[in-house]
Amino acid sequence: MIPAVPKAELHVHVEGTAEPELVRRIAARNDLDLPVGLLGDDDRFAWHGFPGFLDTYDLAASVIRTAQDYRDVVFEYLSGCAAEGAIYVELISSPDQARAVGLPEEEHRAGLFAGIDDARAAHGIEGRIVVSVVRNLGVEAAERTAAEAAALPHPYVVGFNMAGDEAGYPPSPFRRAYEIARDAGLGCTVHAGEHAGPESVRQALALPGVTRISHGVRAVEDPGLVRELADAGTVLEVCPTSNVALGVYESYADHPFAALREAGVPVTLGSDDPPFFRATIGGEYAVARKHFGLDDAALLDVTRTAITASFADATLREELLRRLHPGGPAREAARCGPPSPSTLRRPPTDGVR
Ligand code: ADE
Ligand code: ZN
Repeated sequence: MIPAVPKAELHVHVEGTAEPELVRRIAARNDLDLPVGLLGDDDRFAWHGFPGFLDTYDLAASVIRTAQDYRDVVFEYLSGCAAEGAIYVELISSPDQARAVGLPEEEHRAGLFAGIDDARAAHGIEGRIVVSVVRNLGVEAAERTAAEAAALPHPYVVGFNMAGDEAGYPPSPFRRAYEIARDAGLGCTVHAGEHAGPESVRQALALPGVTRISHGVRAVEDPGLVRELADAGTVLEVCPTSNVALGVYESYADHPFAALREAGVPVTLGSDDPPFFRATIGGEYAVARKHFGLDDAALLDVTRTAITASFADATLREELLRRLHPGGPAREAARCGPPSPSTLRRPPTDGVR
């Protein structure tokens, strides 16, 4: 853990943040038995391989049922991040998970927002929400969820994402869902280049509004695509420990974080689903230091990239940038060290929301 370097995280799934102990506590107060197969003998989430992980994720999510539950999940996660020196976290939230347990979206959101407000009050950390569709529920469901998000604008809901089975559900058919999200002023990102290769990243880049790619690491298999990402300033939300745990790469030594960064691709760090992978945001910064050779200045650049590429409004981004350099104006903070924020892709609605 490196508390000295301020951290920011753009990639973590709400239900995927809840530790087994919290899931147990929530299940007990909801009078629910823990789902069979959720936990192994070691009291950790039990899963094997990516499809198995998605199944266990859904089992954990199935006991999170009320606004209070969502408030507690968000508050406890953000509190842990603040203790590791994080100042900003974008949380990926799936209305489909709430729908699956019969929780109306307004109540779901009220819980998420309360978690963000309480964490800010207790620890000074900021959080925002990126609404995510689950691609394996199909194109129509994705368009419905995008339309619902568009119809419920809120200052804390700043982005749109698509998670789930990338290999089985490539990005292109989801064009309309992204059009709806972009037109609603949401920043857009897509899970791509994690469980499928460069073609999936190319399709993701062609979706309306996309300025960031969730993971995107397998772009490294196509040097032309790496150049395109660097030239366009497309930001990757890289989750090294998740990638190793899910078998995308065998080890940190095989991971392309450093290669992508050295090629000029703007990279950030995320924990994805922390207790599933024994990850934390502080841990990812420590991994970047130990395995990818980043020193304090380089790690600060990663944070600066994340804040600049965040879907938060311009006022909050500037305030967060100022927090990286107490005493110095945000413009100074933005000027030192690559990549220059002015070269990062920003959502077309930047500053409007
Ligand atoms: N949902 C939660 N974590 C995910 C991941 N790493 N990839 C795709 N969908 C996810
Ligand atoms: Zn993810």
